[in-house]
Amino acid sequence: MTEPRRVVLGVGGGIAAYKVCELLRLLTESGHDVQPVPTSSALHFVGTATWEALSGHSVATDVWTDVPDVPHVALGRTADLIAVAPATADLLAKAAQGRADDLLTATLLTARCPVLYAPAMHTEMWEHPATRDNVGTLRRRGGIVMDPAVGRLTGTDSGPGRMPDPSQIADLALLLLARPDALPRDMSGVRVLISAGGTREPLDPVRFLGNRSSGRQGWALAQVAAARGATVAVVAASVELPDPSGVQVTRVGTAAQLHEAMLAAASDADVVVMAAAVADFRPRDTQQHKIKKDGREPNPVVLVRNPDILTELVRDRRTGQVIVGFAAETGDADGDVMTHGRDKLARKGADLLVVNAVGAGKAFEVGTNEAVILSADGTEVDVAHGLKTQLAAAVWDVVSARLAQPAR
Ligand code: C5P
Repeated sequence: MTEPRRVVLGVGGGIAAYKVCELLRLLTESGHDVQPVPTSSALHFVGTATWEALSGHSVATDVWTDVPDVPHVALGRTADLIAVAPATADLLAKAAQGRADDLLTATLLTARCPVLYAPAMHTEMWEHPATRDNVGTLRRRGGIVMDPAVGRLTGTDSGPGRMPDPSQIADLALLLLARPDALPRDMSGVRVLISAGGTREPLDPVRFLGNRSSGRQGWALAQVAAARGATVAVVAASVELPDPSGVQVTRVGTAAQLHEAMLAAASDADVVVMAAAVADFRPRDTQQHKIKKDGREPNPVVLVRNPDILTELVRDRRTGQVIVGFAAETGDADGDVMTHGRDKLARKGADLLVVNAVGAGKAFEVGTNEAVILSADGTEVDVAHGLKTQLAAAVWDVVSARLAQPAR
């Protein structure tokens, strides 16, 4: 865990304020000191007692409380991060204009730390040219404005405007606390395709051969790329996480489905990342009915090879496309993790290979990872043990630098 940091949690006046209690919990449970600063309208949705009880801090909405402490300056100056959720259309407008008529807006104006906005509003408000301009202004100034999620809004309507899932706001907030410069807007106009999760190869209607990949590393790559301005599509194999906001997700199950979806989408991508754990083999036959014991010895399962998607993507790539593979290695009698990694990069022909050691308690089903990013040109970037979003940010740093190079 990173050392405790100081977070100001600005809460806007939208119904999604009730979900921000969960965000507050996620941040405090990660060991951080969180000061909620609701607007007075936010208190219509969730009252002072809830914010105070969950944070352990007293809460004010205006600048006339504890005046000798000059809170509107003190909060902004001492914060390591400000997260604003829900960021309503009104709050985004005030922040873009530099208004300072309550404690939260004044704090936004005095802060010099990263500011993360998680918008929530009706689709018409999100799409209105005024909001588009305000979001553009905030992003140009270095504010990190997430895209809202698409789905059910207050009432019966549905569309873009739902607040991003609290866990995803927390993911980016924790990333910014670990690395304040992790989310520059350097990927605008870059189209990214990512595979995530682990494939499942059916044996019969109820059983499959699978692996322990949760999809969290692929999700982290998607969230970070989207926050850096990229247009992101994910093909997700058996991932049980909510869609990252602002990301197009296609859900698949088997390696064959992942193969088809990736090859169909790759020609539109500037960068392709194969983060999914793909089954190398599948059962030759899938039984129509559940396999029974019937008191006899089991039949052996005959396996056949799956296509190597990464190798095919490399073979069919278009000029300038950057292709990134992942290699989960344990090391064995034939060589250590890095030896296998270097061999694999050469064999698969990708531009970059992210090599991570896996095994007991490492990489799978946990929020952390560590890796070495190998480049085909021989350079290697060590990424120390940290959040999966930190590894994702390091991958995008290397990819961004490559895209910025003159045509190869
Ligand atoms: O050979 P290995 O499975 O270790 O290689 C890992 C890399 O290759 C990952 O990027 C993985 O997504 C990709 N892969 C693939 N198709 C397969 C097996 C792995 O694209 N059938």
